[in-house]
Amino acid sequence: MEYRFARRMKHAPKSFLEELFRVSRDPEIISFAGGLPASDLIDVKGISRAAGDVLEEGGREALQYSTTDGYLPLREYIASRYRKRYNIPADASEIQIVNGSQQCLDLAAKIFLDPGDGIGIERPGYLGAAEAFSLYEPEFYPVSLGGDGPDIEEFSAMIRDFSPKFFYGIPNSQNPSGVSYSSDTRKAVAECLDDSDTVFYEDDAFGELFFDGKPRSPVKKHLFRQTIMSGSFSKIISPGLRIGWLFAPAGILKEFNVAKQAADLHSNFLSQKILSRYLERTDIDSNLRAICRRYGDNCRLMCDLLDDLFPSPMSHTHPQGGMFMMATLPPKMSSMKVFSEGIKEKVAVLPGIPFYVNGGGEDTIRLNFSSAGQDQIREGLERLSTVIRRLV
Ligand SMILES: Cc1ncc(COP(=O)(O)O)c(C=O)c1O
Repeated sequence: MEYRFARRMKHAPKSFLEELFRVSRDPEIISFAGGLPASDLIDVKGISRAAGDVLEEGGREALQYSTTDGYLPLREYIASRYRKRYNIPADASEIQIVNGSQQCLDLAAKIFLDPGDGIGIERPGYLGAAEAFSLYEPEFYPVSLGGDGPDIEEFSAMIRDFSPKFFYGIPNSQNPSGVSYSSDTRKAVAECLDDSDTVFYEDDAFGELFFDGKPRSPVKKHLFRQTIMSGSFSKIISPGLRIGWLFAPAGILKEFNVAKQAADLHSNFLSQKILSRYLERTDIDSNLRAICRRYGDNCRLMCDLLDDLFPSPMSHTHPQGGMFMMATLPPKMSSMKVFSEGIKEKVAVLPGIPFYVNGGGEDTIRLNFSSAGQDQIREGLERLSTVIRRLV
């Protein structure tokens, strides 16, 4: 028989990443291709204690079905952190818990998009978002991302000409580039959208990971009722708990909640309760300082090595936070070739191509600096520079 899949599956990018990740699983390979937080900074003991307490004190409740919007004390915690950190008027009623912030991408697309509807996205943009949105058959309108955020002229022309349903952006330490919007760009983006019907989808997966520990003002602060903001515990506590959230105006959250209920009734309640108990008794800011210090040190080392070891026409971004940076290879060099030659030298990088939804990016690579140790970074970049010098 022939499997008769839905038309939308034709629009799903058949990612070559699976193959790349398979190849780079060889334990001898030093990989900068993945995107995992540092495993040794996950507080296994603290989470284990919280899990034990939750199960002992109220195991039957924690193992039952629960409400779609999520565990109220956890939503209150998230809202209070927004108030404290960003001085924005967040209320628990505006927070919906999701199964990792990746789920926000799917559900936001589900409630906003009919086939052919427009969405704006940064160029390069987060691959996981493009994959999630593609299943709803949208038209993508990419806007070039510079060192300060999206090109504002391009951005405003795109909003004016195509009026996309939403613009998806990552103002803090973007994946894949590591770029953060400047404060002027944040204001300009909000101003451009202010008199439009385009929602700003602010993905804030990395907002707590600035190396200097200082919060940057969200676009939502300038465009409160028109912005939906997703957040996640994945990079700050543990991705395996699969807990993220959406912070959105009531009118949007109502529809989002309907889609969430239809998708999975609610997010893992046990995870929510463990996380909530863990947060009650943990100085999360001290954990975050350790994470930011590590990632900052790794990032600076990577930037120095890229400057010292690599041929001069090569350039790279200078992240202020997060887990990724992007490098542009010497002219005409193919990132796919760098990938395949790199595997022979036991070093893996991620070609930038899939981050460019409408094509391009052949001469770019994404480098992750959160998971490798400093010795591995030194050795891995030595190997990579050998590959690139050979290909010049
Ligand atoms: C920019 C961005 N958004 C969302 C996600 C999804 O993360 P999670 O579902 O673990 O919250 C990721 C994962 O790497 C990401 O890089």
